[in-house]
Amino acid sequence: MKVIITKNHAESCQKTAAIMADIINNQTKPVLGLATGGTAEQVYAELVQLHQSKKLSFKNTATVNLDEYVGLAPDHDQSYRYFMNFHLFNKVDIDLKNTYVPLGNTDPITELKAFQEKLASTPRHFQLLGVGPNGHIAFNEPSATLHADAHIVNIADATIEANARYFASKNDVPKTAFTQGMGDILKAECLALLATGANKADAMKKMLLSDEVTTEYPCTFLKTHPNCIIFIDQALADLIGYKG
Ligand code: GLP
Repeated sequence: MKVIITKNHAESCQKTAAIMADIINNQTKPVLGLATGGTAEQVYAELVQLHQSKKLSFKNTATVNLDEYVGLAPDHDQSYRYFMNFHLFNKVDIDLKNTYVPLGNTDPITELKAFQEKLASTPRHFQLLGVGPNGHIAFNEPSATLHADAHIVNIADATIEANARYFASKNDVPKTAFTQGMGDILKAECLALLATGANKADAMKKMLLSDEVTTEYPCTFLKTHPNCIIFIDQALADLIGYKG
C-alpha cells in the first residue's frame, strides 16, 4: 500500500483522474471499477474536463460500479446509476452499453446473479474507492465476517445515518444494497482510495496507524493489495497524526 498526502482533496482528485486517464489512454480495452459518493464527484469532474479539452476519449472504455441500492429505479435521483449518468457518463463519449451498475428495481436474486457474472467476466484494471465513516468499502459493512463475492447486504445503521443527507429523510434511505464483495474489489489490478473530512478519521486511523486487518473495518483489507494507493489530504492526515 502506498500512501500519498495531498495538500487538499482537489489535488487527490486530480492525481486520481490522472491515473485513470493514463489507463484509458494506454489500454486497448480499459476497464474501470467506479464508485459513487461525495468523495468521487470531483474525480469525475476532472475526467469530464480532460474529455472536454480533447485529451481523453472513453470510446473503448468499459466500467463496472461497486454497488447500488436495492429498490431504487435507475432514474431515481439517489440511485447510483443516476449519479454515474449525471456526474460522468452523460458528459463524456462513453457508450452506455459498456457501463454496468446493478439494476435496483428488478428481481434482486436474478440481478445479483447477473452482477456476479459481470464481475467474473470483466477483470478491472483499476478500482476507484471512497470509504465510509465506519470503514465500509462499497457496501461491505463492518461485521464478524465479510464476503468475497458480490452479495445483497443489510446497510448498517451508521451508513443509513451517513447517507441520509442525500434523501428527504432517514426513512427514505433503502435498507439493502447490492455490493461487490471484498474479494471482487481486491481483484482489480490497481486500487485508489481517497479520504477527506473529519468523519473519516476513525477509519483512516485503522488504515494508516496500525497494520491490523480486521472485518470490523473492511477498509483495512486494502492493506493486503500489492498495488493500492491511498490519497489522504493534509487536513485529515494532521487530524489523525499521520506523518507519512
Ligand atoms: C456510500 C458508498 C461507498 C462510498 C461511501 C462514502 O455508502 N456505498 O462506496 O465510499 O458512501 O461516501 P462519501 O464519499 O459521500 O463520504
